[in-house]
Amino acid sequence: MKNYIKADEWKIIEEGFDPHLHKISESIFSLGNGRMGQRANFEEAYSGETLQGNYVAGVYYPDKTRVGWWKNGYPQYFAKVLNAANWVGIDVLLDGEQLDLAKCKVDGFYRELNMREGHLKRNFTATTASGKQVQVEAIRFCSMADDEAGAISYTLTPLNFSGEITLTPYIDGDVKNQDANYDEKFWDEVSKGTWADGGYVQMRTKKTGFEVATGMKVSVQINGQPVSINADAETKEKFISLTYSTQVQQGQSITLIKYAANLSSQNYAADQLVPNLQSTLNRVAAKGFDTMLAEQAAAWAQKWEHNDIVIEGDVAAQQAIRFNIFQLNQTYTGEDDRLNIGPKGFTGEKYGGSTYWDTEAYCVPFYLATADQQVTRNLLLYRYKQLGKAIENAQLLGFKNGAALYPMVTMDGTECHNEWEITFEEIHRNGAIAFAIFNYVRYTADEAYLADYGLEVLIAIARFWAQRVNWSEARQQYVMLGVTGPNEYENNINNNWYTSTMATWCMQYALDAAEKVRTAEPAKYQALIAKINFEEAKEIAQFSDIIEKMYFPYDEQLGVFLQQDGYLDKEQILVKDLPASERPINQKWSWDRILRSCFIKQADVLQGIYFFEDRYDIDTIRRNFDFYEPRTVHESSLSPCVHAILAAKLGDEKRAYEFYLRTSRLDLDDYNNDTEDGCHITSMAGTWMSVVEGFGGMRVKDGKLSFNPFLPEKWTSFSFNVGFRGTLIKLTVAKDGHSVKHLSGPDMNFSIGGQDVHLKAGSVIKIVKVKIPAPPPF
Ligand code: BGC
Repeated sequence: MKNYIKADEWKIIEEGFDPHLHKISESIFSLGNGRMGQRANFEEAYSGETLQGNYVAGVYYPDKTRVGWWKNGYPQYFAKVLNAANWVGIDVLLDGEQLDLAKCKVDGFYRELNMREGHLKRNFTATTASGKQVQVEAIRFCSMADDEAGAISYTLTPLNFSGEITLTPYIDGDVKNQDANYDEKFWDEVSKGTWADGGYVQMRTKKTGFEVATGMKVSVQINGQPVSINADAETKEKFISLTYSTQVQQGQSITLIKYAANLSSQNYAADQLVPNLQSTLNRVAAKGFDTMLAEQAAAWAQKWEHNDIVIEGDVAAQQAIRFNIFQLNQTYTGEDDRLNIGPKGFTGEKYGGSTYWDTEAYCVPFYLATADQQVTRNLLLYRYKQLGKAIENAQLLGFKNGAALYPMVTMDGTECHNEWEITFEEIHRNGAIAFAIFNYVRYTADEAYLADYGLEVLIAIARFWAQRVNWSEARQQYVMLGVTGPNEYENNINNNWYTSTMATWCMQYALDAAEKVRTAEPAKYQALIAKINFEEAKEIAQFSDIIEKMYFPYDEQLGVFLQQDGYLDKEQILVKDLPASERPINQKWSWDRILRSCFIKQADVLQGIYFFEDRYDIDTIRRNFDFYEPRTVHESSLSPCVHAILAAKLGDEKRAYEFYLRTSRLDLDDYNNDTEDGCHITSMAGTWMSVVEGFGGMRVKDGKLSFNPFLPEKWTSFSFNVGFRGTLIKLTVAKDGHSVKHLSGPDMNFSIGGQDVHLKAGSVIKIVKVKIPAPPPF
């Protein structure tokens, strides 16, 4: 754990330069706008340790799989979002001596991520080996208003000399992925060129053939006044630069403004990339840096209006929650249904930028409440469009008749994961995809989605489950063998309660949705069942039979759902009795030891209880929570949030807060020693869930929002904005009572603390007593 980020409500601040923390900061200070993003690499040369990262959403490369022992059914490729052309680079020479912070004495280093306005700023004074001292201020951003563009303002002031300053802005397409399986470079050059004040490189990915044109347009100022300096252009393989050299007097400042743009063949014909790139660069340069920066602040102000969470009385918590919300918005804006949310977003290479069940299980609730419904709809459409691939994927594994198995990890719908216990067995992901459809329809009431897209996915998923179970003569019940639940510290288990619960729920939801569509949209229903050869009578009977006769492991004595058959045969040790020196077990123990132990990586039975809490009475939830939580090591960042929400539901406010703390500053404080790989973007949505669904107790019940809030002891108050069916409200939870303020849209009915409330447009309602009596204490 580190503690070097300064507390501030709206900013992430690093003071002083410690090269050992640099890769962590490169992740934390990352920028993005949904269309592209980058790690916080320095503009000037840096010969110290760094992970260079510029990413263009949706542009990936299928890297040939590397496994020790090939198994039939393994995918050939792992698709990764690529490290793309570096557009931030500006080489700096001071009388011919290179500015490189790894080789200078650095003073007054200050790095700031301004989350309110969406930009990154860096100031420092550097003294080179020869004693030249300069002051630098750099500001940059990925524009939300022009999402193919970004801009940098780089100002340098010689402090103790007058001399020749050389600034060389460049575009470098000769980049690699650190995680390349065969150390290959993934890009070929298509073309490049320079103009008097700019240039570009157009690159093509090997195999996938994506083309990306990355360009720059540059201007120079002395003491804030534009100057005209002739630049020397240089081109070499996959690289272009312009070099500006001029005499600068001691105390004068020279500023280089670099406008940059990234255009991808996903959106333009390849031969139109460069003309469009030029016009984008001209357009943003005509606006100017300050206007772009102001537009950036305005775009972020709009986002914050929809999704800010204000915490009073705890600056570290305030900073953390805003950081989580900021990163989620930088990663996915929901305008393009071909894009999704990689577990590390644009902050690193780990997990390949690919899509996991994290999107449906964790991110969907965040986007539903904080963005237009179109955003979540696009996430659902992404999977809808990949249904054909999911059916092929299931066929490869021997399933038939339109059964779909969505991949565990994917870019374009093809499975990329290649560890048998996950690829073939961690099939619960199919359930999360169905659940997201349910969640979307429950939240938005957009039932037309079912008729147009959702039902087709649901039936294909239900068909998969119907074929994946088998009838056990011995039990006279259906069973599901050989699976891995969300708890990846158990593989090839039989009758994982969570997976079987998801499976039967999916079949039931498919049946309910079919009935709804059949009644509401008979023509669409008939067209769909003809398209997918849905044999109504036979398949409905089959699903119903499985739902009725499915086996779920349960222990009568403990009164808990059993994670899987045989779970109680394990030696029952509690996490509190594990020596600290042996944790995390995934780094300290051999794999077989982990598998034999009772330790649980992340919520498994409890994930199911979280999804379907209305099915269970409070005592059942408590018994399961009390049994499983003490056995859970939370070695996935996705785990604590589910526990925070359930602890809150059980009235255990203290523990709910403790679980929340485990994720909220996970990256800012580098809790798990892995932030340098990138930030845990998808678990950030879980942190948001802990506040809104945990402390706020927000649920959707009978087509209305309901709240059951409490105030964590350490806080003076907290408030959050949520949108629901066109109305935006702010809930404030404070020591002396709570209030709900209408912000925009029509009147709204909701319930809080069990009381029904009608909120008129433009009004505020104060509630003094809100808490439903807490369930009996632990
Ligand atoms: C978790 C998975 C998750 C993946 C990506 C793994 O450690 O166990 O549930 O999908 O990380 O976040």
